[in-house]
Amino acid sequence: MNHFLDIDKTSPADLTAMIRNARAMKDARIGKPKGMADAEQPLAGRMIALIFEKPSTRTRISFDVGARQMGGETMVLSGKDMQLGHGESIADTARVLSRYVDLIMLRTFDEATLLEMAEHATVPVINGLTDTSHPCQIMADIVTYEEHRGPLKGRKFVWSGDGNNVCTSWLHAAGQFGFDVTFTGPETLDPNPRAVEFARSKGSNVVIDRDPLRAAQGADAIVTDTWVSMHDPESARERRHNQLRPYQVNGAMMGEAKPDALFMHCLPAHRNEEATSEVMDGPQSVIFDESENRLHAQKAILRWCLGV
Ligand code: CP
Repeated sequence: MNHFLDIDKTSPADLTAMIRNARAMKDARIGKPKGMADAEQPLAGRMIALIFEKPSTRTRISFDVGARQMGGETMVLSGKDMQLGHGESIADTARVLSRYVDLIMLRTFDEATLLEMAEHATVPVINGLTDTSHPCQIMADIVTYEEHRGPLKGRKFVWSGDGNNVCTSWLHAAGQFGFDVTFTGPETLDPNPRAVEFARSKGSNVVIDRDPLRAAQGADAIVTDTWVSMHDPESARERRHNQLRPYQVNGAMMGEAKPDALFMHCLPAHRNEEATSEVMDGPQSVIFDESENRLHAQKAILRWCLGV
């Protein structure tokens, strides 16, 4: 049984195998209707619980569709309708759920909730986003980068904006897949120092540069995310917008990157805030491929977790 909790907690060999499997499963579905079953049905007879304590479009639908394509059954549960952490401990919830379902995917606030669920569940647990990281998204993004530009090793990724949970998973991936990251953003929103340390410990060159145009020079990809994340207080909105405006990904920033650099964003986006529509809809943007690849990457993650 494998939990998929974070990219830094999963071996490079397993991560690479999942990426390869995701791409093979994607290729096998070319031209097929979305609702058609895969030729192989590795999840036949498996029940998957998808639990959300926060809103979701991509994670919810891509896990649901992916599990069904592989023959699995799913139930989508809202954290607030369950006794999760209020009325029943996370540990007891994990023990109970493990008697009903074969795998738990959890989107929650505090990483400690995810870790407690994994510690006490006797079935695999997948991190569907916490305030700390978003590994499923970055697995999809790796599939996306590789299908457009080939291996990541030695590439320069530039993260512009808030050093948030998605940025953390990019740093974990940099360490595991051997690419470099330049962070550009205000000091108060610097990336998680443990994630920076992890990437550096694996040989990744992690640079922090407050000048967005200088940071973007020679980039193979420029990545950003919303200025106000789901876990940020609404009262911080105006301050964050003022701090982050210089880090908007626009034509000037893309112009500093390599001519074939990709623009990446996990979505949802606030158009003309963290990135202009010109960039989001431009020829270097792969944002909707990233969304599609959530489906294929997570199918590979589900199979790896279940060993099927
Ligand atoms: N990127 C992402 O996780 O999207 P959702 O919040 O819609 O699931």
